[in-house]
Amino acid sequence: MVSAVIQSSCNPQKLYKNVDFDREVYVLGIESTAHTFGVGIASTKPPYILANVRHVYTPEKGGIHPREAAAHHARVAPEVVSEALRVAGLSIEDIDAIAVALGPGLGPCLRVGATIARSLAAYYGKPLVPVNHAVAHIEIGRLATCFRDPVVLYVSGGNTVVVAYAKGRYRVFGETLDIALGNLLDTFAREVGLAPPYIVDGLHQVDRCALEANEPYELPYVVKGQDVSFSGLLTAALRAVKQGARLPDVCLGLREVAYSSVVEVTERCLAHTGKREVIVVGGVAASPVLREKISMMVRYHNARWGAPPPSLAGDNGAMIAWVGLLNFLSNVTIAVSDSVVRQRWRVDDVPVPWR
Ligand code: FE2
Repeated sequence: MVSAVIQSSCNPQKLYKNVDFDREVYVLGIESTAHTFGVGIASTKPPYILANVRHVYTPEKGGIHPREAAAHHARVAPEVVSEALRVAGLSIEDIDAIAVALGPGLGPCLRVGATIARSLAAYYGKPLVPVNHAVAHIEIGRLATCFRDPVVLYVSGGNTVVVAYAKGRYRVFGETLDIALGNLLDTFAREVGLAPPYIVDGLHQVDRCALEANEPYELPYVVKGQDVSFSGLLTAALRAVKQGARLPDVCLGLREVAYSSVVEVTERCLAHTGKREVIVVGGVAASPVLREKISMMVRYHNARWGAPPPSLAGDNGAMIAWVGLLNFLSNVTIAVSDSVVRQRWRVDDVPVPWR
């Protein structure tokens, strides 16, 4: 179980002009969209994030099995909820609202978080607040970096999307047409016997293996307009290994194509919107190789970039609590009877009333 309290040096009043931070409000948020079961507690008063506790399901072999992940979440949930309250020094009676990530994500996993949130809301008579998982990544990224109006690259095992705010919503400026960047790296690493574990000492096994490369193996680079595509790349990389290409050379070729293509669509969005800031969020945001490429790109555009610390970059409950707080203070709540999970809830479907 990982537990951390994060102190943001940012004054969120600057980021959220439509939110009244004078009220003292506490929101508990539940994350269960994929492999992480997390509970966070957010407040309108510094340090804003009072608790961020999570427990991560790691399959012994193969990728995430949704029903096994859901069983894991149900098993650890009581302990994670109690630990978050203990870390925050609060009791459930002190909490003003219960927030939950209702999507996008894996159905069985989402339903565990939703069931727990509905039960807490109904039993203790608290409002229930719906949160979109992608919006939560974006807003915790803004809080952590204090960037007002960034282009956001969200890269994880299940998501690859470039968004920027315009007229009341986060608009999609590019996304994957098939599999996500994290899924590409994990599947390749698993299929060629490099993983699990996928990450060792902060470095993905594909990045680690690429350190031994002589030269990058040439693989298809697919950017279609503003979108990326990785399934052909995965097939080509696996075929190359099968045909006897040097594994480190294929790792280098794969990671160069994969990271460069998402940086290219991020750059196009930056140039198109004229914004001056970039944030990278999601599990893959921790990659030093991706960070270096983003850093070189923004320098060229005289922009700046940032990323939340690892405890807030991957899936976590604190980001759900934070957007739950923003939604609650913007009067966005949902009746328990209407709180269905939405596996494919798009980020551009969500009104953003707090900016
Ligand atoms: Fe995520």
